[in-house]
Amino acid sequence: MTLTAGSLAYPATTWPRAAPATATRCSRFRRPDACASPVAAAAAADLAFHPEVSRAAESLQAEFRAVDRALAYNSSRVAAAFRRARVAPHHFGGSTGYGHDDGGGREALDSIFAEIVGAEAAIVRPQFFSGTHAIACALFALLRPGHELLAVAGPPYDTLEEVIGIRGSANVGSLKDFGVAYREVPLAEDGGLDWDALACAIKPETGCAFIQRSCGYSWRKSLSVADISRAVNLIKKQNPGCMVMVDNCYGEFVETSEPAMVGADLIAGSLIKNPGGTIAPCGGYVAGKKDLVEAAAARLSAPGLGVEFGSTPGHVMRALFQGLFLAPQMVGEAVKVGYYLLVHC
Ligand SMILES: Cc1ncc(COP(=O)(O)O)c(C=O)c1O
Repeated sequence: MTLTAGSLAYPATTWPRAAPATATRCSRFRRPDACASPVAAAAAADLAFHPEVSRAAESLQAEFRAVDRALAYNSSRVAAAFRRARVAPHHFGGSTGYGHDDGGGREALDSIFAEIVGAEAAIVRPQFFSGTHAIACALFALLRPGHELLAVAGPPYDTLEEVIGIRGSANVGSLKDFGVAYREVPLAEDGGLDWDALACAIKPETGCAFIQRSCGYSWRKSLSVADISRAVNLIKKQNPGCMVMVDNCYGEFVETSEPAMVGADLIAGSLIKNPGGTIAPCGGYVAGKKDLVEAAAARLSAPGLGVEFGSTPGHVMRALFQGLFLAPQMVGEAVKVGYYLLVHC
């Protein structure tokens, strides 16, 4: 039998709908002929994919090997952080009410995350609604009236326009409402950072330089951690007091290093993207310098409550650990699909 997808014809895989009464364990999980010989097994495995996909995967062997190396390295970093924090079942219990005494799960998760991204501290919480919420908490931690926010990689992700106050109603508590000015350094023609413009962009009142690592929906390049490192150095050379904040959404585990390792003061992102490993049901994080993370925590909760408050049901706590543990694998697989789409679509 032959199925047709567009102009491509390929043989249909005829999986049994239900196991026959006499089925062995093997025949229940594979095509019956796959058990006959190694050659038949290989042929059956080939049929698991559309031939076009098999050919594409063949042609991307070198890229996939590089992704697998990064994936293995990142997985081992994550496993080491879990070991160091001695993650055990009592960490998965969660809490109710104020969220005190949650068996150390919250602290363990924060310290593991901080270690993985190379930060002094981190706050990883289901109470962050999304990446936008985590980024907003980080921006409000860094900026004060009279400061300027400078986006150095062109326009930020569009949900941040309302946080900044360049779109939407006045008086909802945007940065603009609190007297924080905003400016942008447009991207260079090649879609990367405009290094010449950045070399003289920082003013004394620039309280925060904002870098969006991943491209979001715009047709620009995602920035490498090497780019971010170069940008941090350029910014700090002009004004060491200017804080560097990175929107790390969709950037985590794509490389083997993270922006906090190369001098970013604060990074923020979402657990319903890369670091949730497809398992975390909600949440986000802010990581970086300890005092700044505490300020972001105070924005998430309230001054005086900070990082020690906030209950998390046990099943969610467990999922946050589990998702973070699996995240390098999930991100690696997604990067491979990205290569495929880039080269073959
Ligand atoms: C680069 C980038 N920044 C920020 C966000 C906003 O994250 P969220 O949708 O979780 O608020 C996104 C969302 O896709 C994104 O891609």
